[in-house]
Amino acid sequence: MSDPVRVLQHEADRTVLLEADGTTIRKVFHSDARSTSIELAAREFSILERFNAALADEEHLTCPRPLQLGQGDEVYIRMERAAGSPMQDHLNLGLLPIAEAQLAALLSHGLFRYVDTFGEPYWDFIFRNMFFAADPGVVTFLDFGFPDLYLPRLDELRRRTPMEVSLAALVASAIFDAGRPTRMTRRREHARAFRIATLTLHHAVSDPASPEVSIDAVCACATALYALATGGGRRVRREWYLRIGALLARPTAKLGQLSA
Ligand SMILES: Nc1ncnc2c1ncn2[C@@H]1O[C@H](COP(=O)(O)OP(=O)(O)O)[C@@H](O)[C@H]1O
Ligand SMILES: [Mg+2]
Repeated sequence: MSDPVRVLQHEADRTVLLEADGTTIRKVFHSDARSTSIELAAREFSILERFNAALADEEHLTCPRPLQLGQGDEVYIRMERAAGSPMQDHLNLGLLPIAEAQLAALLSHGLFRYVDTFGEPYWDFIFRNMFFAADPGVVTFLDFGFPDLYLPRLDELRRRTPMEVSLAALVASAIFDAGRPTRMTRRREHARAFRIATLTLHHAVSDPASPEVSIDAVCACATALYALATGGGRRVRREWYLRIGALLARPTAKLGQLSA
């Protein structure tokens, strides 16, 4: 096993590393209970296997090919590194290397393939979990974990269809990111992210191949997810989103535009 060279993301219960060979990613699970880590790793590994196979016939959509499920002292999955670079960096560029409507059509179709394959939401269907390679225009979907953030309103989410919940995640995160202190200066990214999220929603609504999607349901669900994302943590954090974050992200105005 190569030594990790770079920590890409570190959370309380998982760490994502770029391995020394530069072509493989290792996602290490370190929940308090080892059985939880094993369960999460096995679940994500299995999704990667099935979704990678399901997308084999797609020219412009993929997910990383899984390489190894480690269940020894360290619990992890290893997978291929995605081609290209983070989608959010593309969104922040002066010139997006693909038309927004074309990208939205790809995202809508990719989401439909996910929901069709698993019969459940792509819970964390957000731009942060996508890579994009400009030539020939390939989107790689990452991260098939379930965000614990959703737990307090899981019953409400379960009453919506998988397409609606996933689309709400995309919309809510595009709005939420615009108000985050660490990302608030990336104005081009946020404007584009919201436009593309809206176009993705409208594409899903009008695509005869996709199951029926209600814009009102997506809007209600996105409102709930935005509230969950901004309503937690310490008082100073909540105050930020209530005041400054809301001014930057304009959640009410944006959610109101979804059906326009
Ligand atoms: N296969 C991959 N190729 C390239 N980058 C990846 C890959 N998997 C994860 N990453 C990077 O690491 C970040 C965190 O990985 P992710 O699976 O989203 O973990 P988490 O569940 O902690 O959000 C991603 O947003 C992405 O930037
Ligand atoms: Mg992620």
